[in-house]
Amino acid sequence: MLFLLGFSGLHFLIYSVFAKVIYLLCNKNMNKEVRKAKYLRGEINIPADKSITHRAFMFAALTKGRVKISNYSKGADCMSTLKIVEQLGSKVEKLNENEIIIDSTKGINEPKEDLNCGNSGTTTRLITGILAGQNFKSKLYGDESLSKRPMKRVIEPLELMGAKFKHQDYKLPIEIEGKSLEGIEYKSSLASAQVKSCLLLAGLNAKGTTTYIEPYKSRNHTELMFEYMGANIKTEGNKVSIKKSQLKPVDITVCGDISSAAFFIAASLIIPDSDILIKNVGINKTRSGIIDVVKEMEGNIEIINKRIISNEEVADIRVKYSKLKSTTIEGEIIPRLIDEIPIIAVIATQAEGTTIIKNAQDLRNKEADRISAVTKELTKMGANIKETQDGFIIQGKSKLKGGCSIDCYHDHRIAMSAYVAGLICEYPTVIKEFQWVNISFPEFLDLMENITVYP
Ligand code: S3P
Repeated sequence: MLFLLGFSGLHFLIYSVFAKVIYLLCNKNMNKEVRKAKYLRGEINIPADKSITHRAFMFAALTKGRVKISNYSKGADCMSTLKIVEQLGSKVEKLNENEIIIDSTKGINEPKEDLNCGNSGTTTRLITGILAGQNFKSKLYGDESLSKRPMKRVIEPLELMGAKFKHQDYKLPIEIEGKSLEGIEYKSSLASAQVKSCLLLAGLNAKGTTTYIEPYKSRNHTELMFEYMGANIKTEGNKVSIKKSQLKPVDITVCGDISSAAFFIAASLIIPDSDILIKNVGINKTRSGIIDVVKEMEGNIEIINKRIISNEEVADIRVKYSKLKSTTIEGEIIPRLIDEIPIIAVIATQAEGTTIIKNAQDLRNKEADRISAVTKELTKMGANIKETQDGFIIQGKSKLKGGCSIDCYHDHRIAMSAYVAGLICEYPTVIKEFQWVNISFPEFLDLMENITVYP
């Protein structure tokens, strides 16, 4: 048998078995036990930003050139985007662990197969903006959670631009029949960067000017990267306009993800005697609401070594254990910290007084209904937290007991928030299906374990 296979066949067989074992190890259901920490100490480098990586991959695919991307996110969501970019005709060359080249010299082409967006809302909504203006048909699908998430928010405005879709109740799977699009002025009732980016991507390839107006400013990575790549884009407050443009192939370095750093910021604030340095964190004002909240809560947080990387502001962040005060979080700050609300809820359980979070109803449309999930799981751990229609009321100074089993609802941010809460629980806590952290932050456990000291 081995003789028949020959040398390269044997190599292939060994490689396939090895790859299968690694795949099974990485994807098996993993229940993670977390126990009380003594303190956190040390220095960590935060892996690349998920939002910026999605954009780097997609925008590189639109340049008709070669773009080197350094320090990209290895999370499963960004890998879904990368695979789609390949299916649309770009060649992906891996230079080393941290650098790839996306070669889109052949442009965007009709995919041979349907496009799998996995668990990723950002992939789905942004790629829809690209596909709506192409001269071919395509079909998007995703996992169970993504197939429940609302797509009306992008389908409706794109239809106004002339796009055509087939879907059931505005949910995945959706078929997109590419059309030539016309620019529109669209006033959105949501402060959503995914909707804004979708329309700007459609506008890049539409006749005339496309203008998007949002009620509060959502993350502006698309605007900054478009500007960096030479698009004809103009921002005035909450209004952004784009004219048909060709993106230029410029190399991009992705900074660290503040949404990932948030779990370390929180852990260091609430575990007595902690003192850590988090390096290379994107602190774009439209993303860094958590820093403003921590300052407002009188947390000991220092932003140092500010610099600009590929048109994004970056810094190192030093955080120490702090005696925190409660706060109210509402209005314009919500989109600037939307993904950090689960972990801010954990911080609030340790502050003095009652923290109120309002106007965050879109949290119910994320990977899970995060208002309900956070309330249920933190209550199990011993927190005093009440769910409202658009947020939470959290009584501080709770002694978390833990000693329970936590569901993460297939949601990476619920899994990591529960882990951080587990670090201050009296008894060990088990988080079920902890492998969901791989969606955004496969390095989470290694980094956390490196800086955690146990009693
Ligand atoms: C994202 C925008 C936000 C955020 C998501 C990433 C993006 O979603 O929650 O994790 O990269 O544009 P919404 O636009 O739905 O608020």
